[in-house]
Amino acid sequence: MTPDEFRAAAHRLVDWIADYRAGIAQRPVLSSQAPGALRAALPADPPEQPEAFDDLMADLERIIAPGLTNWQHPRFFGYFPANAALASVLGDYLSSGLGQLGLSWQSSPALTELEEQMTDWMRRLIGLSDNWRGVIQDTASTSTLVALLCARERASGFSQVRGGLQEHPQPLVVYTSEQSHSSVAKAALLAGFGHANLRAIGSDLTFALQLAELEAAIKADLEAGRRPCAVVATTGTTASTALDPIAQLPISAGNTASGCTLTAQWPGRP
Ligand SMILES: Cc1ncc(COP(=O)(O)O)c(C=O)c1O
Repeated sequence: MTPDEFRAAAHRLVDWIADYRAGIAQRPVLSSQAPGALRAALPADPPEQPEAFDDLMADLERIIAPGLTNWQHPRFFGYFPANAALASVLGDYLSSGLGQLGLSWQSSPALTELEEQMTDWMRRLIGLSDNWRGVIQDTASTSTLVALLCARERASGFSQVRGGLQEHPQPLVVYTSEQSHSSVAKAALLAGFGHANLRAIGSDLTFALQLAELEAAIKADLEAGRRPCAVVATTGTTASTALDPIAQLPISAGNTASGCTLTAQWPGRP
């Protein structure tokens, strides 16, 4: 596709998306297609020749649109509102069009510094202290895993370059609310803490993590010779949008703010 062909096709696609959004209320919220209908409408074998853009646009309306769950529909109340303010669609276009990779500062100074500045603005907007630094991860689950890996390495004096967690006789412990998303437990298991070292702390009447119970659990672990490593708090739990008492948590400089799950390292408060 040449830049001129791209320009013409992109205008048509933008018009299609704008019309789709403008008329979305007239579409059904859920697809009425039977399972397998979309696959049956596509050839079994992969195409060996390119198709005209006109044909792709026709397939979009004929094959794809009937199989959509219309998340942006005004009567869609499933899961949570997600992913698609029209302004952010423009951001997606630009990001794909620029085709940058943020492997290091030199691989894209603009990308690196824009990310740093945006995550710092986000930190300020949600009221975190300047001990926090942010980076953008692909999902909330990944950011929790990365944060727990960082917490593990920090608390263990970078044990990964030696014997890993297996060289430590005193287990590291992770704390989170019983209301936290399943990705927190998954991340703790992936990061090698083990289920026995993950504490699901009870929640109060607002479904927020109970500080007294957290403190008691930390105290019991210290007395038993275990080492508190990280507290994973949630701002807006999946089930009820409850807010854990972040300002009162015993945290030091944290390492991620994913938009919904914050992971901070033990010990000490900033
Ligand atoms: C509070 C919370 N944390 C983490 C996640 C996981 O998000 P993702 O699917 O982006 O990994 C969710 C998803 O619903 C969530 O509600």
